[in-house]
Amino acid sequence: MSILVTGGTGFIGSHTVVELQNAGYDVVVIDNLSNSSEKCLKRVEEITGKPVKFYKLDIRDREGLEELFNKESIESCIHFAGLKAVGESTQKPWEYYENNISGTLILVDVMRKHGVKNLIFSSSSTVYGDPDSVPVTEETPKKWCTNPYGSTKSMQETIFTDIQKADPEWNIVLLRYFNPIGAHPSGKIGEDPNGIPLNLLPYITQVAVGKRPFLNVYGNDYPTPDGTGIRDYIHVVDLAIGHVKALDRIKAKCGLAVYNLGTGKGYSVLEIVKNFEEASGVKIPYEICPRRPGDIAENYSDPSKALREMGWKAERGIKEMCADSWNWQKNNPDGYGA
Ligand code: NAD
Ligand code: UD1
Repeated sequence: MSILVTGGTGFIGSHTVVELQNAGYDVVVIDNLSNSSEKCLKRVEEITGKPVKFYKLDIRDREGLEELFNKESIESCIHFAGLKAVGESTQKPWEYYENNISGTLILVDVMRKHGVKNLIFSSSSTVYGDPDSVPVTEETPKKWCTNPYGSTKSMQETIFTDIQKADPEWNIVLLRYFNPIGAHPSGKIGEDPNGIPLNLLPYITQVAVGKRPFLNVYGNDYPTPDGTGIRDYIHVVDLAIGHVKALDRIKAKCGLAVYNLGTGKGYSVLEIVKNFEEASGVKIPYEICPRRPGDIAENYSDPSKALREMGWKAERGIKEMCADSWNWQKNNPDGYGA
């Protein structure tokens, strides 16, 4: 029996494939390669010493999925496939709803027709919107999302919740990620954004490697100690291990379960710059700019439910996250394109 990983050539998916293989699981990866490179799977194989079965397949391709489920013996699915750029989603809402929502509905339909009713879903802290207080627990009310990307995550959560309620044979774990950064310590796999990075760490590493002149710090007038935004950054390897732990919840027939995956500690933009400089030995020039529309001052998790129920806790600290992000970028200045 295998674990199906949709979006398994992406940033979080590829790291999760490594941890699944390390834990002894057989893995089948599907991805349409719209935001990733198949090359990363060769790197995964170098890390784990095990082959990865890969199908270039779109989750909206019902016939392709049918064939796959007929051929492979799948026990559970970890569902990463989706479009994820917040800004782009405001320009192309139809494409985001069609890819993320239609794709998920087709995947789930094919799964149930083949009697596969175990699923782990990549959700996001974005479902909490601008929370009234931090840290956020899984009980913190969800808020209306300000962009179509966030809305697709929130809607997918609702779809999964309703499906599980109607058919209790389903076991579904919704994992709400905070801010995944870092890379595998081997430096062989990491985050490889297309074009100008939108997120903080990939931007910083591109400044460090000389691709960008300086970092734009979006606002220093937030009600935080140094005025810059605070987030809960989590090492992608810790996040990946969270999925392996979630499979144990599935095996224990958890029904519907929701977990925050974060460290529980927030860092400001300037604290990240300082930690990155210390970890890499490279100075990061920056300029203070106006706030980025849609940004919030502060968000960090209460991850204690994941510890209580899954025995999962983030082990890697901010220095390790920065050092591993840098190790990846420095060894692969052009990502997988090199
Ligand atoms: P990513 O873009 O690196 O990975 C997503 C993968 O899905 C890509 O390889 C892409 O080619 C593939 N894909 C997209 N649409 C597809 C389709 N229709 N059929 C098949 N494959 C398709 O992103 P990531 O950072 O690894 O994120 C993985 C998941 O986690 C996404 O669902 C994302 O929304 C979610 N998430 C990410 C973050 C983050 O900060 N990276 C935070 C919270 C949630
Ligand atoms: C972003 C997404 C969110 C997603 C999350 C997952 C946006 C608006 N939100 O959140 O939906 O779930 O990633 O990781 O994109 N910053 C700078 N300069 C930069 C880039 C960022 O100062 O060049 C600041 C931001 O203002 C913020 C912090 O760094 O305070 C983190 O930003 P980012 O990495 O983009 O993540 P989020 O905005 O938290």
